Amino acid sequence: MRTVEWIDDKLSLIDQRQLPWDLQSVTYEDYREVAEAIRVMVVRGAPAIGATAGFGMAIAAQQFSGSDRLGMIQHLEEAAEVLKAARPTAVNLMWAVDRLLRVATDEELTALDDIREAMLREAQRIADEDVEINKRMGEHGAALVKDGDTILHHCNTGSLATVDWGTALGVIRSAHAQGKQIHVLLDETRPRLQGSRLSAWELKEAGIPFDIIADNAAGHFMQRGEIDIVFVGSDRTAANGDVANKIGTYQVAVLARENGIPFYPVVPTSTIDLSLASGADIPIEERSPDEVRKPYGLALVPEDYPARNPAFDVTPQRYVTGIVTENGVVYPPFDLNLQRAVAGTR
Ligand code: MRU
Repeated sequence: MRTVEWIDDKLSLIDQRQLPWDLQSVTYEDYREVAEAIRVMVVRGAPAIGATAGFGMAIAAQQFSGSDRLGMIQHLEEAAEVLKAARPTAVNLMWAVDRLLRVATDEELTALDDIREAMLREAQRIADEDVEINKRMGEHGAALVKDGDTILHHCNTGSLATVDWGTALGVIRSAHAQGKQIHVLLDETRPRLQGSRLSAWELKEAGIPFDIIADNAAGHFMQRGEIDIVFVGSDRTAANGDVANKIGTYQVAVLARENGIPFYPVVPTSTIDLSLASGADIPIEERSPDEVRKPYGLALVPEDYPARNPAFDVTPQRYVTGIVTENGVVYPPFDLNLQRAVAGTR
């Protein structure tokens, strides 16, 4: 199953707002609609957003109806701005859009159709690479999992958050595929419930045993010795190893440290932003308070009750045991070793 796919000259996305009740896909032929799909979270999860934006740029090239190269580049730069503005925290979005822009501005390509073809090939390459990278992270991360372990997981980081397989949930898939008997506790992940709606759906499909827990139950299970290891994803990891991820990750990391439990973010190198010295510089998306007051249309409180809704938080690197990348598990000192992991790719 691919979350993000190019089918019959259109971009096809699984509509994640409908899960776990309905498995439906939506198709796109307009880059502005692709940006909107990212904003309203038809598609979400940093690597899936990146792959989607790559195809969004390829679509923008196809939409250009003029005949001059300069005009096309200008049109693509506008499309890049629209796509990048869809969500601010996941750096894979900027990374993928810039990768497509580099192809578009390659001096060797002069015919507009050659640019269009090269851009579509690059978008497809990003999607294919994502699956391969996730499988590699899965192998590195699964080596940290012992037979019989109970794993705590936050948000959704599986096939739905990537193109296929997943980052942290990919590690869980790989450990299960190796025949390890594992059990997973899934934080429900308020307010959008990516854990209880999406991760639970994926684990059920994969036949991996799990229990959904309320977000505020993680400390209780840790204190009782019922959690052996924590795996989470990341939307942007700074050069010093500070990790931005779904809101609630920070408290999980602090609780894990308090209880002597290893905490591993699983992070493709495309999510590492070496231009930012620390997590303090990572832009944190603030979404509509309605997601807190009225998740999925279910009114929990009157609509005039004030609410705040930061979508991500930053876990300081001192709480991070190690960072699983496609180039191996990175341990402190992160500033040095993350650079090495990234250099191994680029
Ligand atoms: O707001 P979302 O659902 O896009 O947030 C997703 C996460 O926080 C994931 O943990 C992160 O993107 C890494 S997933 C591979």
